[in-house]
Amino acid sequence: MPADTRNTKAATTEKRFLAPFRGEATWPPPIWLMRQAGRYLPEYRATRAKAGSFLKLCYNPELAAEVTLQPIRRYGFDAAILFSDILVVPDALGQKLEFLEGEGPRLEPIREVADLTRLDPGMAEAKLAPVIETVTRIRQDLPKETALIGFCGAPWTVATYMVEGQGSSDQAKARLWAYRDEEGFGQLIDILIDTSIDYLSRQVEAGADCLQIFDTWAGSLPDDEFERWVIDPTRRIREALRARHPNIPVIGFPRGAGPSGTWYVAETGVDGIGCDTATPPFMMSEAYEDEDVVVQGNLDPLLLVAGGERLDDRVDEILELMEGQRFIFNLGHGIVPETPPENVARLVERVRKVGA
Ligand code: CP3
Repeated sequence: MPADTRNTKAATTEKRFLAPFRGEATWPPPIWLMRQAGRYLPEYRATRAKAGSFLKLCYNPELAAEVTLQPIRRYGFDAAILFSDILVVPDALGQKLEFLEGEGPRLEPIREVADLTRLDPGMAEAKLAPVIETVTRIRQDLPKETALIGFCGAPWTVATYMVEGQGSSDQAKARLWAYRDEEGFGQLIDILIDTSIDYLSRQVEAGADCLQIFDTWAGSLPDDEFERWVIDPTRRIREALRARHPNIPVIGFPRGAGPSGTWYVAETGVDGIGCDTATPPFMMSEAYEDEDVVVQGNLDPLLLVAGGERLDDRVDEILELMEGQRFIFNLGHGIVPETPPENVARLVERVRKVGA
């Protein structure tokens, strides 16, 4: 390891999490985990029960702030992520959202351009006010060395849920609409772009230090459509945010993008790239070297369920691979509910040990 990256700059940066975005290859790398607040934690389950439902929890600033802080208290992650969901945006636009126990989200589907009249973008700001209030509360209670990540779903991924009305394995309805009526589907994407820009800006104004754009279904599109529905909307959001909040880094998570990840980084201007579980080591360590971008990822969440030596070995491999680079340790997708909390402790301890 180059000696000058070992713990040196960390002391001069109040929030270690932000150091890589300032060009510093801080080591050990900062760590946080997607879905770090969630059902694998007993304290989360208790707070969720108190709120009454997942969606009520999302709109309850006091309890949403509480569950955001729970994993920080337990593990001391370098960043907290706002507790909410990417689907509060369609809900705020007037497309009623429900989460069915054990089944996931349900929305009344939007299938064609005529259905867009059911959306009321003018309502979104008021409906999302409790989420912004959550950000304000988290900021007040978060240790000053811990960064706060705000987020939204990318327009493409959010649109797939709006069109399907639920999760799907192939996003076929959204893809078909986009082929049959590019202009009409583009109107839906434009609404999501504008709403997301305002929503993320307000999260920053309330105290977010960094933003992540979750594009869970980026991998379902061929190249022209990837450019039109993944790259272009993300670039527009990135540019608008840069104009409003020039110093706030944005991490893109184009899950499943594969080799198009470098194209995505070059064209969108994101400051960080979230790599999914399937991203191969050479891509993590080399593909982004010429881009001015922080790499984040990509431990398999199931290794966190399995634990033991398989977990340790893979953590060591990732650390060796990324040593000396501007890197943030994370999973390749969210923590799953079956994860034993003690395995998360084991992971954090192992990552922190490398620079000690
Ligand atoms: O990372 C975090 O801890 C922040 C909170 C967060 C949640 N969802 C909480 C949540 C974030 C950033 C998300 C993003 C999200 N939500 C995505 C993109 C990332 C990804 O996982 O691919 C997507 C596609 C959604 C939509 C969504 N929310 C689905 C499909 C489901 C049901 C599946 C499931 O895991 O239950 C949710 C529910 C959800 N979002 C839960 C949590 C903690 C579980 C709700 C519960 O308590 O029952």
